[in-house]
Parts: sequence; C-alpha cells; structure tokens
Amino acid sequence: GVPVFLDCDPGHDDALAMLLAIASPEVEIAGISTVAGTAGVEATTRHALQVVELAGRPDIPVASGCGRPLVRDPVPVGELATAGMLTDLGLPEPRHGAVEPHAVELLARSVREHRDRLTVVCTAPLTNIALFLRMHPRLADRVHRLVLMGGSATLGNVTPSAEFNIWSDPEAAKIVLGSGLDITMAGLDVTFRAQILPDEAESLRTAGRCGEFVADILATVAARHSHYSNRPGTPLHDAVAVAEVLWPDLVEKVKCNVAVETGSALTFGRTVVDRWGVTTLERNVAYSANVDRDRFVERFVERVRRLP
Ligand code: BDR
Ligand code: CA
Repeated sequence: GVPVFLDCDPGHDDALAMLLAIASPEVEIAGISTVAGTAGVEATTRHALQVVELAGRPDIPVASGCGRPLVRDPVPVGELATAGMLTDLGLPEPRHGAVEPHAVELLARSVREHRDRLTVVCTAPLTNIALFLRMHPRLADRVHRLVLMGGSATLGNVTPSAEFNIWSDPEAAKIVLGSGLDITMAGLDVTFRAQILPDEAESLRTAGRCGEFVADILATVAARHSHYSNRPGTPLHDAVAVAEVLWPDLVEKVKCNVAVETGSALTFGRTVVDRWGVTTLERNVAYSANVDRDRFVERFVERVRRLP
C-alpha cells in the first residue's frame, strides 16, 4: 500500500478517519501523531492509542506532538471540546504507550524511510506539520504530498467565517500553505456534503466491535451536527481526507490559491480561496470542490465492516 502518516486530534471524526485508513489495504500507516485540537494533547494521544488498540493494530507507532498552537495562546474550545471526548464509548485500555520521539521526529523518520513516497494526512490543527517544516526544511521536499481536512471557501463552523482546524492555529496553517508542499485540502464545503445518513450509520452497529463503536460515534456526532443542519446526516469530515488518498476520483479538485487570515478580529482563521482565479497568486492548493457522497459512504461502510 501507499505509505501514509496520520496527524490527528481524535476526536470523533479523527477516530473514523483512522479506522478507514486502518481498514484499507491501499494504504500502509507508517505512523500516527497527535496534536492539541478537539482536546488537549494528552487526551488526543490516549484516544489515538485506544483506537489502534480497538482496531487490533497496536503495532502502529503513535507519537505525541504539540500541546498548544505555534504562536498564540491556547484558546478554550468551549462547546467544541465535547468533540474530543471519546470517553464512555467502550474503548479498550491501550496496552502500549506513545513512542518516545516527538510527533515531529516520528514524522521526520517516516519521511526519510519512505523518501518521496510518504503521503501525510492531517485532520487537525497544522501545528505539528508547520513545526516539522521549520525543523526539517530539507525533508519537506521529500514528502510526496499533504492532504488535509481544514478550511472553507464558504461558511465556517467555529466562527461564521472560520473552520476549526485552521482557526485553531492559523499561523501554522500559513506556514504550511506557503511551504511549496503538494497540498490537497478538503474543506467544509465538501465535508459537509460527505454525510452519512442515520440508516447507513446504524447498519454498522452489528458489524463487530469497531462497527459498534462507529455507530456510537455517529449517533453522538449527529446530535452535535443538528446545530448546523436540520436534515438528518452526519458529516464524515476527517474521513474525507483519507478517502481522497484511497480513491482520488471520488473528490473533485480545483487548483487555486488559498491564503489564511490572521489579522482581522472578525474573520480570524478564515481560508480565502481564490476559486475563480481572480488573482495572479500562486495556485498552491488542490482545493476539493465536490465529493461523490454515495460512493464515499458506501465504501466507508464496506471498509468498517472489514474491521474486527
Ligand atoms: C474539524 O474539526 C474537528 O472537530 C474535526 O475533527 C475536524 O477535523 C472540522 O472542522
Ligand atoms: Ca480532527
């Protein structure tokens, strides 16, 4: 399989993305790193360890990363903090701890080991990735590509104009977007369309311990998502980034310039997406413009069924 490295902040959505990757023979997970985001980094690390344990893959190295944004003070995530809570969902105790090296060093090792072939998938604030670029500038060229869940060309979710992952560490996002990496971005415009319906989610309840866990997560997230939509369905935000690696054809992309606002109080953390090419700015991102919801969800369900 294609070597991938997952940088995440599990978190409900991230757990689903991890399980999709673990279940898919198209990819081989070189490592997982965690960062503060939907919860503090101790919690996201513990959750990542619990998810690999649940999936029967405690052999995948999990490294703990940055506990706060690069520049600004950590902001209490308030209501969104519940997005980080994977407690009460019957996850097993992890038998192993995180590996010794920091997330950035585990990523650097993986890049060296899979020179020019490693796809990095980030489903969290971009703090670890930005720090990696700063600490290992020469290795940046050796990353095959970066696929991230973050941003929006339209509405935000944490503020009216900003998406959570970018808003959480906009300076890190700025470093990443200006790095010259080959970047594919799955923003809210597509992930809000990538919704699993209640029947589809419940069909997994009888599909082993992972299926039951996924059904439980989706029921929890559905309740939270009702804030954004009055139609049934739960967006599989982070899993869309993994799906883009597994099945690039499911996600329609447009090359365009994406920049991040870090100055304005009103639109802080907003991604400004030059979707129509009205500037001459560098087309630094393959921006996801659409997703084939039906095929994506069908394949997601089929993959979860393969897990224990
Ligand atoms: C992103 O924020 C987190 O709550 C999810 O895990 C996802 O990565 C969506 O804005
Ligand atoms: Ca996430």
